Amino acid sequence: MEVVELNHPLIEHKLAILREEKTGTKEFRELISEIAMFLCYEAMKDVKLKKTVIKTPIEEMTTGKLEEDKYAFVPILRAGMGMLDGVITVVPNAKIGHIGMYRDETTFEPVNYFFKVPKGIEKREVFLLDPMLATGGSACDAIDLLKSKGVKKINFLCIISAPEGLKAVSEKHPDVKIFTAHIDRELNKNKYICPGLGDAGDRIFGTK
Ligand code: PRP
Ligand code: URA
Repeated sequence: MEVVELNHPLIEHKLAILREEKTGTKEFRELISEIAMFLCYEAMKDVKLKKTVIKTPIEEMTTGKLEEDKYAFVPILRAGMGMLDGVITVVPNAKIGHIGMYRDETTFEPVNYFFKVPKGIEKREVFLLDPMLATGGSACDAIDLLKSKGVKKINFLCIISAPEGLKAVSEKHPDVKIFTAHIDRELNKNKYICPGLGDAGDRIFGTK
């Protein structure tokens, strides 16, 4: 399985503040967005640029430019929306889709309630966004939906992941590359990530 964990002191520092119970909504949201930007930076490390001739104030040069609309960001609602600001800061002209999904509180199974992706999604490389990869059920179903639309290249960007979720995604979708800021220890009996950060959606939107 291809899993990239961001090992960097700046990320650990930001995660420490993010995880803290006392961190309020504004700071939590800002940190989710910033860490998403770093994940996007890492996930786009190998993209191909289009050879372009530009003119600096001094001379002409041949360099590379990103063909931004070859890429699509797809947040899994709600919590994935928290990562969108960060990634569109770095790739502002990427296309954006939305997948609505929530985890049933008793069965922990994902329930899909919305699916809207840009026209021509099958030709784009997709970056699926969700801060939390717990059992992996939501990620696997979201990837199934994208594949059913013909998407061939999918990357999954998450802030915190559990080993259980990484295993589930890599077994069902071994072709999907996972980028995570941190791999945590395990899930508890309520399928929350330990030590984790609690409920990402509630902390981003201040709903609890
Ligand atoms: C959270 C999280 C993921 C999912 C992860 O969303 O944002 O989508 O749970 O759990 P899983 O890996 O076990 O499927 P939640 O269902 O709480 O919905 P929300 O984003 O609306 O808060
Ligand atoms: N969803 C969350 O928001 N947090 C977890 O720890 C697990 C699933």
